[in-house]
Amino acid sequence: MPTMLEVTDLGHRYAAKDGVYTAIDGLSFTVGSGELVCIVGPSGCGKSTLLRSVSGLLRPTTGQVRLHGNLVSGVPADLAVVFQDYSRSLFPWLSVQRNVEFPLRRALGRAERRERARQALEQVGLTGAAGKYPWQLSGGMQQRVAIARALAYRPALLLMDEPFASVDAQTRFELEDLLLRVRREQDTTVLLVTHDIDESVYLGDRVLVLSKSPARVVADLTVDLPAERDQITTRESERFVAMRAEVARLLHSPPAEVAAPARERAGAVVGE
Ligand SMILES: Nc1ncnc2c1ncn2[C@@H]1O[C@H](COP(=O)(O)OP(=O)(O)OP(=O)(O)O)[C@@H](O)[C@H]1O
Ligand SMILES: [Mg+2]
Repeated sequence: MPTMLEVTDLGHRYAAKDGVYTAIDGLSFTVGSGELVCIVGPSGCGKSTLLRSVSGLLRPTTGQVRLHGNLVSGVPADLAVVFQDYSRSLFPWLSVQRNVEFPLRRALGRAERRERARQALEQVGLTGAAGKYPWQLSGGMQQRVAIARALAYRPALLLMDEPFASVDAQTRFELEDLLLRVRREQDTTVLLVTHDIDESVYLGDRVLVLSKSPARVVADLTVDLPAERDQITTRESERFVAMRAEVARLLHSPPAEVAAPARERAGAVVGE
């Protein structure tokens, strides 16, 4: 499988009151074309910082990101992001339909754009909301609009930051299965951040486990479950249960050799 995304020694430091704050540090991994890779890590460890750096929205302090072998320095055209803060990612002055059409305005004609948006809204179960405005929808519905917008765009690489965090359990299962279906039908490569260990194993071909801030890769696990997943039978299979236990173990007590030196790690704040 050819490599689509290559992240090498990636680090990001934010300016802090008393110097700089190292959010991520020395992160290296690759994602193959067509793969779905899930990222799990403790809250605040730098997952969103990582996704923002990969998307070209944030310039990394150290290291580099390559997409199709090209250095990422701005947001690549064949990439879409579903942000964690969906409420700020939709345009309040545009209808739901127009929000979903928006990224397609240069690539497609009007009729085609409409049809793509219609299909994507149908996929996320929001056909009836096409004419509404984002602020007329619940949080979970807004999140589904953001997902529909990314799906309608049909990017080569889809970055998703906790995309199903604010929907109810039933809708979450449906959206997980929709994502698995769509990535196969459209041959999309996906990098998805989640807090949910079970979700990472259910969706992933691989699970990257990150350490506490500054995030490092604690483990890069291959999910050796059959490609076809099912919300009931997969989740109750012995292999699934063993894998989720392994991810939980790695999250809660990462092996000592991946931990950064104590001096670097203490509060992760270092003076310049
Ligand atoms: N713009 C910023 N300026 C300064 N510090 C920031 C900025 N954005 C994030 N941070 C800090 O960097 C660290 C990592 O933040 P980030 O949002 O990447 O974590 P996360 O793993 O996505 O967290 P969560 O699980 O809560 O979504 C946090 O301590 C956060 O306070
Ligand atoms: Mg985050």
